[in-house]
Amino acid sequence: MTEDAFIEVDRVEKVFDVRRRTGFLRRERRQVRAVDGLSFTVARGEMVGYIGPNGAGKSTTIKMLTGILTPSGGRLRVAGIDPSRERTRLAHRIGVVFGQRTTLWWDLPLIDSYRLMHRMYRIPDGRYRENLDRLVELLDLSALLEVPVRQLSLGQRMRGDIAAALLHDPEVLYLDEPTIGLDVVSKARVREFLRELNVERGTTVLLTTHDLQDIEQLCSRVMVIDHGRLVYDGALAGLHEVGESERTLVVDLERESPPIDAGDAARVVRVEGPRQWLAFPASGSAAALVARIAAEYPLVDLSVREPDIEAVIARMLYGAGDGGGVDAGDGGGGGASGERETVVPGAGNS
Ligand SMILES: Nc1ncnc2c1ncn2[C@@H]1O[C@H](COP(=O)(O)OP(=O)(O)OP(=O)(O)O)[C@@H](O)[C@H]1O
Ligand SMILES: [Mg+2]
Repeated sequence: MTEDAFIEVDRVEKVFDVRRRTGFLRRERRQVRAVDGLSFTVARGEMVGYIGPNGAGKSTTIKMLTGILTPSGGRLRVAGIDPSRERTRLAHRIGVVFGQRTTLWWDLPLIDSYRLMHRMYRIPDGRYRENLDRLVELLDLSALLEVPVRQLSLGQRMRGDIAAALLHDPEVLYLDEPTIGLDVVSKARVREFLRELNVERGTTVLLTTHDLQDIEQLCSRVMVIDHGRLVYDGALAGLHEVGESERTLVVDLERESPPIDAGDAARVVRVEGPRQWLAFPASGSAAALVARIAAEYPLVDLSVREPDIEAVIARMLYGAGDGGGVDAGDGGGGGASGERETVVPGAGNS
C-alpha cells in the first residue's frame, strides 16, 4: 500500500444477514456477501469513477468508507482514520452525497440546513460565509435558499445537497449517483462544478454513477465492481481494450457496391445502399483503414464512431459471443483473493 494513499481498502468484506419469512413461524436465514474481498487505493486529488451493475456493492462500499456501515472483514482507512471507529472525527474531513436520499432537513428552507451544518461541523464563521457564497454562486442556489427542501425539484435539491456536502471543506467527496434523474442541462452543470472542485481545491472524488457520460467526462480512472469484487481498475480507455471494443467506420461510396473487402483490418457489419459500416478494433488506426479503402473504392464521405462504453462494460461483465471476457492474462498475479482477478492494464503506471 502506497504512503500517499488517501483511501485504503484492503481485502474488505461486508456480509449482510438477511432473514426472510417463508411461511407461518418459518424463517429463512441467508447471507448476502455484498462486498467480497475488495482492495484498492485512491491517492489524494484523484477523481475516480466507481461503476457496476445494480447490487454490485457500490453503495455498501461508500457506506463503509463513511463509517455508516462496519466491514465484516478487512481493513479500511480514509485519511488514516478507521471510518467505523472514528466516524465523527472522519465526518469533518469527508463529504457525501447520496443521490437517492437527501441529507437536508425536509421541512426547513435550504439556508437553515446550511446554518445547522455550520454549527454541527463547527465551521469558523469566515470560512462558512466564504464557502457558502462560493457554492451558492457556482451551483446557482441564490433563488432557492429560502425555499423548503420538500418544494425543490430533484435537480435543485441535488445541487443543494452537493453544497451541503462541501460547506466544511472536506478533503474527499463521495458521490453516490449525483446525477440520477437530472436533465441534460443540470447534469452538465453538476459535472462542470465537480471538475472545477477537483482542479481548484484538489478534492479527492469517488463517483458512483450509472451514467457513463459522468465517468467519461470526469474520471481518468475507473473501477468496475461486480458481485462485490473489483473486476477492473484502470484508465477508461483501457476498458475498451479489455472489452475488446470496436470502433465503426461509416463510409459513403459513389454507388451501391458489394461489401468492402478490408481483409483482417475490418469487417462490414451493415450495408445500406451506397453506405457501409465497418467494425474495426478500437485500438487500431482509422487512418490506415481509410487509406486502404480509398485506394480501392470510390469513397465520397466517411465518419468514425467511437465504441459505446456501456456495451464495452456489458461485454466485460457478462461476455458476449465469447472473446470479451476478463482474462487477466499471464500478469504476475498479485495477492488477489478469489478466482477472479482484477484487471489492471499496464499495472504500475501512474
Ligand atoms: N442493509 C442491507 N441489508 C441486507 N442486504 C443489503 C443491505 N444493503 C445492501 N444489501 C445487499 O447488498 C448488495 C449490494 O448492495 P448495494 O446497495 O451496495 O449495491 P449497488 O452497487 O449500490 O447497487 P445499485 O446500482 O442498485 O445502487 C445487494 O445484494 C443488496 O441487496
Ligand atoms: Mg447503490
